[in-house]
Amino acid sequence: MSERFTTITADGMDTATAYRLLCGVVVPRPIAWITTLGADGVVNAAPFSSYNYVAHSPPMLAVNIGSRNGTLKDTARNIVLSGEFVVNVATESNMELMHQTSAEFASDTSEAQALDIALLPSTVVRPPRIAISPVQMECKLHQAVQLGRLNTLYIGEVVAFHLSDAVYDGRHVDSTRLRPIARLGGPHYAALGEIFTRPILQTPPASVANAGTES
Ligand SMILES: Cc1cc2nc3c(=O)[nH]c(=O)nc-3n(C[C@H](O)[C@H](O)[C@H](O)COP(=O)(O)O)c2cc1C
Repeated sequence: MSERFTTITADGMDTATAYRLLCGVVVPRPIAWITTLGADGVVNAAPFSSYNYVAHSPPMLAVNIGSRNGTLKDTARNIVLSGEFVVNVATESNMELMHQTSAEFASDTSEAQALDIALLPSTVVRPPRIAISPVQMECKLHQAVQLGRLNTLYIGEVVAFHLSDAVYDGRHVDSTRLRPIARLGGPHYAALGEIFTRPILQTPPASVANAGTES
């Protein structure tokens, strides 16, 4: 018996439908818990799951931030203003606090202060790191790319990695110890499920041979 499909042409699709479809289909999404610094010195923290790594020479991450009622979200405003941000990895143990930072706090309110989130100083950029994240990546804005009517993709070059001993052995990050949390469609999150192991079949770039990367 053949499967039935619902086919929806995207031409002229309304924003809410497109968002609902993409968020349900592009899963699981890793979560960048981003800290930035406002002009007033206020430390902003908020999660973003339209996020991934996009280059490794030099290392770069990209996050898509949508506009809110026609204005920039605090994170986007601060990135544009300062050219700096820190991506803190969201995990099972920091999920509750991470989730709470998605609420719409006033621009002059620090989520970190309001929620008592402990911070650590960064070494290259000015926004601080979130102490309860086992990996933090300091980034400098490389490029901001406007995408369509509502979104901007902020591409950041990672200028420093901070890796907790709990997850890093000096060569590899142990993903099972990292216990990352991912975003699904709607109000759902997911932890790592079963892990499948297969030999790597493709030839890695010469510069990273034997590094066990997935490039
Ligand atoms: C898990 C999670 C993932 C999110 N991902 C995104 C995203 O990729 N892009 C976006 O614009 N908003 C995303 N949001 C919503 C923002 O976190 C939310 O708008 C937040 O209030 C922005 O804060 P800010 O104004 O302090 O930057 C996400 C929220 C949650 C809970």
